[in-house]
Amino acid sequence: IKRIGVLTSGGDAPGMNAAIRSTVRIALYNGLAVSGIRRGYQGLIEADIDDMQIVDVGDIINRGGTKLLTARSEDFMTEVGQKRALDVLRMFEIDGLVVIGGDGSFKGAKRLWDMGFPTIGIPGTIDNDLAYTDLTLGFDTAVSTVVSAINNLRDTSSSHGRVSIVEVMGRHCGDIALFAGLAGGVEDILVPERKFDLDEVARKILQGRRRGKLHSIILIAEGVGKSYEIAERLEALIHQEVRVTVLGYLQRGGTPSVTDRILGAQFGQRAVELLLEDKFGRVVGIRDNKIMDMAIEEALNEPKRFDQDKYDLAEILSL
Ligand code: F6P
Repeated sequence: IKRIGVLTSGGDAPGMNAAIRSTVRIALYNGLAVSGIRRGYQGLIEADIDDMQIVDVGDIINRGGTKLLTARSEDFMTEVGQKRALDVLRMFEIDGLVVIGGDGSFKGAKRLWDMGFPTIGIPGTIDNDLAYTDLTLGFDTAVSTVVSAINNLRDTSSSHGRVSIVEVMGRHCGDIALFAGLAGGVEDILVPERKFDLDEVARKILQGRRRGKLHSIILIAEGVGKSYEIAERLEALIHQEVRVTVLGYLQRGGTPSVTDRILGAQFGQRAVELLLEDKFGRVVGIRDNKIMDMAIEEALNEPKRFDQDKYDLAEILSL
C-alpha cells in the first residue's frame, strides 16, 4: 500500500473530522500518500479527489460536519456505478480506502471489498445502530445535544404545566432516546425496540401531576411512529396540553465531544494500521473500552442489541 483514499458517506456526524484528521496524519506519518475523496461514493464516481497534506486537516478537530463533505449516492447502488468507482480508484493509484459512515456506507465498503478492493470502515453515525461496536462516532455528542434541549424544555414546560414530547433521531434504533432519556431524567422513553402502551404513559403522567409535578417530558425515537399523532392521542387521555418538539438535524451538528474526538483519533489510527498490515475488508470499533476490528461482513450480521438494563433503570428512576 502506497496511497490511501478517505471518504465520509451518509449522514454526517460530529467526530468525523477528528477521524479524517487522524487517518490522514497517521498515514502521512507512516510514509503513505493520501487522497481525500469529497461527497462520499458519489464524489468517488465523479472523481472529486485531491491530495491531502498535514495542513489540510488543521483546525477541524473541533468542528462538526465533515471537511470531506458527504452524500447518499444512488449511483453507487448500481453495478455500473460500483465499477466506475473501482476504475477511479485505480486511475488515482489509490490502493486502500477508508470509509467513514454508517451501515449503508459499510455495505458500500463491503461491495468494493467483494470486488477485491482493500477497504476499512470507521463507524460514523449519530444513531449508534451498528451492533458490533459499543459506540459510533457522533453518538456521544448527539446525546449531549438532546440533553441540553431537554434542559431547556424543562423550564418552559414547568412554567406552562405542559407535557412535552421530544422526537429524536436514530432511524430504527432507540439508543439516542434511551441514553438522552436516562441522562435527562425524562418521564418516559419510547423506542422502536420495545412496544409501548399509551394508557400506561398517560397513567404515569397523571400520577406525577397528582404528586405535584409541573411538567412531563416524553422522549420518542423517530422509529416509533408519528409524534404528532401520538401527542393528540395522549392529550385526549390526560386532558392536558401536549406539545411536540422535533429536534431533527440540530442533533447532527455541533462541536464534537471529547469522547467523539478521542474515538475519531483512535479509529483513524487503527484503520491505517490495518491497511499497513494488509488486513482488509474490516471495520474498526470499540468494545469494553478497547479498540477492536472485525470483518465487515461479520459486523453487518451482528444481531441488533438493546440495553435493557439502562431502559429498566430509566423506568425506575422516572417514577
Ligand atoms: O443516520 C443518521 C440520520 O440522521 C438518522 O438519524 C435519520 O433518520 C437520517 O439520518 C436522516 O437522513 P437524511 O440526512 O438523509 O435526511
